[in-house]
Amino acid sequence: MSESSNLGPAPSTRNRKAILWPSTSLVVALVVPVALAVFIMYQLDPFDPAPYPAHELVNLEKPVLVVPKRNPHVLKGAEKIGVGELVEPEDMAYDLKSGVIYTGCGDGWVKRVTVNESADDSVVENWINTGGRPLGLVLGHHGEIIVADADKGLLNVTANREIQLLTDEADGVKFKLTDGVDIADNGILYFTDASYKYNLLEVSRDSLEARPYGRFMSYNPSTKETKVLVRDLYFANGVAVSPDQNFVVFCETPMRRCKKYYIKGERKGSVDIFVDNLPGMPDNIRYDGEGQYWIALTTEATFAWKLAQRYPFIRKIVAIMEKYLKRQLRVQQNGGALAVDLEGKPTSWYHDHHLSLVTGVIRIGDWLYFGTFKKPYIIRLNIERNPAVAIE
Ligand SMILES: *[C@@H]1O[C@H](CO)[C@@H](O)[C@H](O)[C@H]1NC(C)=O
Ligand SMILES: *[C@@H]1O[C@H](CO)[C@@H](O)[C@H](O)[C@H]1NC(C)=O
Repeated sequence: MSESSNLGPAPSTRNRKAILWPSTSLVVALVVPVALAVFIMYQLDPFDPAPYPAHELVNLEKPVLVVPKRNPHVLKGAEKIGVGELVEPEDMAYDLKSGVIYTGCGDGWVKRVTVNESADDSVVENWINTGGRPLGLVLGHHGEIIVADADKGLLNVTANREIQLLTDEADGVKFKLTDGVDIADNGILYFTDASYKYNLLEVSRDSLEARPYGRFMSYNPSTKETKVLVRDLYFANGVAVSPDQNFVVFCETPMRRCKKYYIKGERKGSVDIFVDNLPGMPDNIRYDGEGQYWIALTTEATFAWKLAQRYPFIRKIVAIMEKYLKRQLRVQQNGGALAVDLEGKPTSWYHDHHLSLVTGVIRIGDWLYFGTFKKPYIIRLNIERNPAVAIE
């Protein structure tokens, strides 16, 4: 049987024309009502995105940071850990003593992962279910794990696996999306609420609206006092205390930057830029004990997203479309991990076009571990064997 016999009769020239050149009446019948419906929806929808302040827009449109070394193909040498046993592991905390990685999952479980040289022999155990959505994690000073739980607030999960709520509001305003946490040597906890308006399910709306609903705070376990240290932040996310205990870094995701808040010395209480014009949207940030902070980057800022940041009406159209389609429309790509030194200078960047929603990165010896908000596993890469190198 020849191939052409499967194709059926060829469409007549007249039909082909009709497909290519729809008649004016077809345009009127189809396009006009759709355009009208969109216009009316736009007018009626109460969603009200804000323009970014001019100085913020200038920053957002600056060229991205140049990183001296990079590995742009992280997925090539990477391995998967805990496939199918981990649901969207967001952040990780490593307990050196037991060799266990704690990670918070999308089903509410904080899981314990014992890694092995052979990725397939790594062991995953259920540890505790918060009943919420554990995001940032850090080891406490008394064998406890402190959890920034998006739904519940800041939690103390004791070594006996009891859950205590430490705090879930400040200045009379409840947290909606407790996100990142770290602990200082003196036991003070530093943490963020990404937004007091939108919860984790509405996270897309927060960046489309572009108003700063985030706060950076501290919690003192001895006085049980919660203090707002910096308010009016754009999606306040990851937190890391500097090893010299002089300042605390916190990241603002849509602004592609991390700031530092001084907790000691002359500048105590003031805020500086730690690093900005990042090559992606920062999520958690972790210090590796060896001079590098690792910043998880969820996605690069695509051209479309930059355009949307500039024009609120585009963000409104996207918000309306997402509402009716019930899914996020934004393209997330080229996520990864950026290492910066103690001064915030970039040193190396591990990324991949096909990697997205990287939310937490920790380094253990020669290995980088990537938590993601989308995958059912942790990704790890041996950076001795797959190093970042000078490009260009
Ligand atoms: C890795 O797993 C194998 C098989 O389960 C085990 O024999 C070995 O001790 C493990 N190695 C480490 C470092 O945990
Ligand atoms: C967490 O609870 C344990 C047990 O009650 C306690 O020892 C520890 O100090 C608590 N941690 C914080 C940060 O409150």
